[in-house]
Formats: sequence, structure tokens, C-alpha cells
Amino acid sequence: MQIEIEARKRSDVEADVEIVCVVDKNLDHPWVEEKEALKMAGFSGGQDETCFLPHAGRLYVGAESLNHDDIRSAYATAIRALRNTRAESVKTGLFLGKCSAQNVKAMAEGMVLGDYAFDAYKSEKAKHPIKKVTICCEDFGGKEIDCQKAKGYVDNAVTVAQAVNYVRNIVNTPPDDMTPELFAQKAASLAEENGLECDILDEKGLESEKMGAFLAVARASAHPPRLVHLAYKPQNAKFKIALVGKGLTYDSGGLSLKPSDYMVTMKADKSGASAVLGILKAVSELKLPIEVHGIMGLAENMIGGNAYKPDDVLVAKNGKTIEVRNTDAEGRLVLADCLTYAQQKVAPDYLLDFATLTGACVVALGEYTTGVMGHDRGLKHSFSKAASNAGELTGTLPFNRYLKKLLKSDIADVSNISSSRYGGAITAALFLDHFIEEAYKDKWLHLDIAGPAYVEKPWGYNPAGASGAGVRMTVKWFEQIIKEADRAAKSHP
Ligand code: BES
Ligand code: ZN
Ligand code: ZN
Repeated sequence: MQIEIEARKRSDVEADVEIVCVVDKNLDHPWVEEKEALKMAGFSGGQDETCFLPHAGRLYVGAESLNHDDIRSAYATAIRALRNTRAESVKTGLFLGKCSAQNVKAMAEGMVLGDYAFDAYKSEKAKHPIKKVTICCEDFGGKEIDCQKAKGYVDNAVTVAQAVNYVRNIVNTPPDDMTPELFAQKAASLAEENGLECDILDEKGLESEKMGAFLAVARASAHPPRLVHLAYKPQNAKFKIALVGKGLTYDSGGLSLKPSDYMVTMKADKSGASAVLGILKAVSELKLPIEVHGIMGLAENMIGGNAYKPDDVLVAKNGKTIEVRNTDAEGRLVLADCLTYAQQKVAPDYLLDFATLTGACVVALGEYTTGVMGHDRGLKHSFSKAASNAGELTGTLPFNRYLKKLLKSDIADVSNISSSRYGGAITAALFLDHFIEEAYKDKWLHLDIAGPAYVEKPWGYNPAGASGAGVRMTVKWFEQIIKEADRAAKSHP
């Protein structure tokens, strides 16, 4: 699907269908030209409700308000509805609301996200995909906008949304077609295409880095582990950021085997690493002035004669010993070594990790919300604000010293699980905290995306399956801290 924005009136553009939003259930807005027909069809204009009037060549879609996320969702739904029709070209105008930039981006983003379908394994593909969308630089509400600027917003949104779809494809790919090796190959091709530095460690490399925790998790799999380190290094970088991603290409639970009902969907346990890859794709294409390192820990957690086991004691890269009490708490073991690697090799200004780490996080916040954890309130707040502006949901989960004590081990420095069944998302983060050096405590943010990364029913602009969680909020946060740095430089030259 190609999206263009043009300085022409809607009436001057030829297209099979025009998308029109009905805002706040108000059918009296002047742009709602088929009011009677809509009423007759029983259309009330609720959020994401659609009504296709083929004779008029219009598809109406409800948006609760002109808030960016309502618009994003409405446009995604509209495009999805048109996938079932013969329409191949679409036009629409602008719904600008309070913040023009945010709404123009939301419209374009919504359409690219709504157009996504994972059909790589279907014999029959969509018969009439949307080929072309023309956004006319004309606000339905009559607000003025500079078309050149609007074009910039559309290009930005399309780049970000395509990176989200790229992540969705990786996460949705079945585990045997996205092993650690194949994932590493995918990362290497991105590096090649986008001019990123690329370093890949195989088992030997992991051994020489003394990544005892990571290696133990990967040991029973027929597919050997990989650590991928990509770096985007622009000349004008204002910050250096390290992103660490959990990349379990499959999580069977290991010897602490998951029950069948819980094992299915565990191909999505590579969502953290996939998000990191997608973020690197987006920032390098947007040419943002920040240095970004992506460190992806790729492994498969399986059973077998040489599997690591409950009761084993592992030695992590930072020298700490870990008592394994549950092999299904494997993500934190892989992340522990990757976090150490990131601090030692990159020495970043900020260190973020992305992981489908705990079912407990899904219990705490629901399926749609990312858990944000860390020591620094300012950092958590800053990131959450960006997430909300990007249309991703977050909730912060607080650390405390009592939960930290629950990770004590009788025989090693730390246990890989808590001794209590409560607060599992936080205790998992507090386990990771053992691998964050003092100097990085306030620079570190842990993002548990176990809920939103993969949902088996469609929600908003996300189809069933992978959502690409993490990409939009992180790119938005980067843009936010760049803006803040520019502003600070201006006021203190
Ligand atoms: N990958 C899972 C967490 C998960 C659960 C992600 C549901 C997405 C949806 C993780 O490796 C895991 O199994 N965690 C255990 C930890 C427990 C053994 C302390 C969990 O959440 O049950
Ligand atoms: Zn697990
Ligand atoms: Zn896992």
C-alpha cells in the first residue's frame, strides 16, 4: 500500500472509495453528506463502527473524538473494512483536531497498521488489496495546515508503522522458521540494508564472553543461540542508548515444562528482541540524531538430556551465581548476561530492556499494557508520557525492598525465582536489577511487554497475533528527548 499526501481538494482526486470519519456520533457535521442513508443503515458512529455506501463511494467510520488514538484506530478499522471489498484506491481528507502533527501521523500510521495481515502461510492471499491511498491536504473542519510539513509527518508515520509491521512479521513467524540463527540472519540483512554495524556471537563467542546464564538456557536446543549486537551511529548523536531484547524463539518452559495450553503462542517470546530490531530499523530510516545499540539475546528454551535444570547453579557474565529453581524463568537469565554486556561494551546514557518476561505482568495490567519498571521516577515518567503520545499503553509497577528479599538463595548469590507467588512482574525486574551496576541504576528502564506483544484477538489497530509493541513508544521517546535536549541547548547556549 502506497500513501501519498497531496495539495489537492478531495473532490479533485479520483479514487474507488473515500474514507470519512463521523466524530463523536455527530451526523450533523457538514462533511457527513449521506446522513439519511447512514441513519437508514442503522449507523450510529460509535468508535470503529463502519458503514460502506458503495453508491456514494464512501466508507464512514466512527471516531469517539479527534484525539489522535481515536483517529488512528478509526483509520485502521476503515482500511481493514475495505480489504473485504473490491476497492483498490482510497482518498481521504484530514482530521486535525488540537495537534495537527499528531493527528496527521495518526491517520497515516493507522492505515499502515490496519492494512497489515499475516498471510505468509496462507495459500490464498487477499484478492483486492488497497494499492494506493491519497490523503488530501484539506481539513474536514477547515483548519489550515502547511502541506509540506504534513508530508513530513506522513513520511515519519509510514516509516514507523512499517517498522511495526516488520516486527509483527518476525514475531508471527513460526519458531522453526525463526530460529536464533535465522533471526540473526534477518538482523544481518537489516544491518546491510540500513548501514548498521553488526556483530554476531555464536556459542563460542558467548563462551568467551563468559555468558554462563544465557548459555545454560540455550543448551538443550537443536538450534544454537546467538547474540546480535547492531549499532546505528550517526555523526550528530546527542545520546547513546542501549536496547536489550529478550529473544526466546521458543519457550517450552524447559524441564519446568509449560502445560500445553500455556505453551502455545510461545513463539512470541522473541517479541522483545524483535521490537529492538524494529526500533533500529525505524531510527536509522528516520535518521534520528542518537546513537542506538541493539543487543538481542536469541535462544530456544527446550528439554533434552543436556537441558539445564532446577537446582543447577549458573555463573553469570558479571560473576554472580544464580540458583535455578525454575527453568521457565529463562528470559531473565538471558537478559542478565545481555545487560552486563550492554553496560560493559556500550556504556550508554540510557539502558532499556524489552521482554515478554512474565505472565504476572499480564495479570497485573491486563493484556494491552506494557509494564514499566526502574529506579528513576523521572525516566519512567518521561517514557510513559511518550508512550501515551504514541498510542501505546503503559503502567508503572513499583519496586520495594521487601520484594527484593524474596529472591534470596540459600546456596547462591540470587535465585532465579521469587519465594512468593505474588508480585511476579516486579520480582522478575528485581532479579534483573542484580545485573545493573550502580552507575546505571538510574539510567535503566525495564519494559515487560508480555501482554501487548501478542494477543490472540484483534484490538484497536492490531490484528490477532503480534502487535509490534514497543516500537512506536520508543521512537516517540527518542524524538521527545531529542526535542528536550534541543530546547535545553537553546535556553543555555
Ligand atoms: N515467556 C514467559 C512469560 C510469558 C507468559 C510471556 C505469558 C507471555 C505470555 C516467561 O519466560 C515465563 O515463563 N515466566 C514465568 C516465570 C515464573 C516461572 C516465575 C511465568 O510468568 O509464569
Ligand atoms: Zn519461560
Ligand atoms: Zn519466556
